[in-house]
Amino acid sequence: MRVSVIGCGYLGAVHAAAMADLGHEVIAVDVDADKVAALAAGNPPFFEPGLPEILSSSLASGRLRFTTDISEVAGARLHFIAVGTPQSNDSGAADVSFVNAAIDALIPHLGDTDVVVGKSTVPVGTAQRLAERILTSGSSATLVWNPEFLREGFAVKDTLSPDRLVFGIAPGAHAKQASAALHEVYAATIAAGTPVVETDLATAELVKTAANAFLATKISFINAMSEIAEATGANVTELADAIGYDTRIGRRFLNAGVGFGGGCLPKDIRAFSARAEELGLGSSVAFLSEVDAINLRQRERVINRVIADAGGDATSIKVAVLGLAFKPQSDDVRDSPALDVARGLVDAGAVVVAYDPEAMGPALKRFPELTVAQNAQQALLDADIAVLVTEWPEFVDLDPRNVGDLMKHKRIVDARNVLDPAAWRAAGFHYSSMGRP
Ligand code: UGA
Repeated sequence: MRVSVIGCGYLGAVHAAAMADLGHEVIAVDVDADKVAALAAGNPPFFEPGLPEILSSSLASGRLRFTTDISEVAGARLHFIAVGTPQSNDSGAADVSFVNAAIDALIPHLGDTDVVVGKSTVPVGTAQRLAERILTSGSSATLVWNPEFLREGFAVKDTLSPDRLVFGIAPGAHAKQASAALHEVYAATIAAGTPVVETDLATAELVKTAANAFLATKISFINAMSEIAEATGANVTELADAIGYDTRIGRRFLNAGVGFGGGCLPKDIRAFSARAEELGLGSSVAFLSEVDAINLRQRERVINRVIADAGGDATSIKVAVLGLAFKPQSDDVRDSPALDVARGLVDAGAVVVAYDPEAMGPALKRFPELTVAQNAQQALLDADIAVLVTEWPEFVDLDPRNVGDLMKHKRIVDARNVLDPAAWRAAGFHYSSMGRP
């Protein structure tokens, strides 16, 4: 099929390459000329395992092209809207101005039987509003909603073989054709056994919001348990293992630590709360502000722990911060707990030297005063204490004996609960983690 993708950020770039990989002919559009040039040259402007490979092969096949010229989408049957919906500057609400702008730019180039496929994460009610916008422009193109559930670090796999596909389609004259077009574009994925949930526009929008709200709640739940565990001498990891065996609960997303960050979970729960307030239903999701508060408290807990474990006076310590990305296999530092911990320690007066295998460039853009090292060993050299804030495999695999030889004092805060306490203590370390004795 000929398809277009509007927006070449994380979601759009991966989606465009994945659609071309499935055999479709894809034109991908972005207003950012630098981004378009980089992608057209096969260089994603962010770190995502597997993306360079499918990007290069799709470009070489001629099935994938990037452009800044929106008029080139004419002739495509499906138009995926994949622009960002960041948190607004002045509130928790989502800023949908990029979605509005994308639709307005697209409308003059739409054919009457085209299908516009929303993928961006939007407040419930947006799709209906956009459908009306298309209708009042005089176009008879159909708008559907098909939310994306990709995780950074697994974006290619999640796009090509997702857990499920959700098609939100408004009832009406074009519903059947729209459904058929979606089934056709995802034919290979559906044939491989991916379940399809076909529903209305509002449900499709809400599925995405609810999924992220649930995941965020799960993480904050276990982090709340880690506070209780810490005060009572219990072990939150063993607690998670034990409750996780109950298949109704499940063990995934029950890792306590410094909490969740990134460009999705934090802003999506805030946007959900803001939308619920608008609907007069703030109390229905009031718990999400507690989820947010627990999550942000974890960052403070880690900062305070580092200072306390190093003797209580931040101004006299050198801290090695291991990790800056919001999670491993990513160079994303948006709302990153790791970067906040580094910043908090600097603000408290500590000398901080940070290292991350992929995220130092993006981190320095946001926090230019941060001192970074060339590698973990350099960050650890002469440090009074280390704090592991992003669980990159190279940090998890560190040999405590080698680390101890580098540091001034053998102290480590494991803010992701991923190191073996016994091994670190055996190497002479003062070891502490989040909710494990
Ligand atoms: C998240 C969702 O997992 C995706 O399904 C969704 O499509 C995406 O947002 C989105 O809305 O686009 P992502 O932001 O890539 O994906 O990251 P996650 O893997 O969900 O991790 C989020 C944060 O939670 C990370 O900071 C991670 O370290 C933290 N986390 C995760 C924990 O603290 N504990 C856990 O047990 C799991």
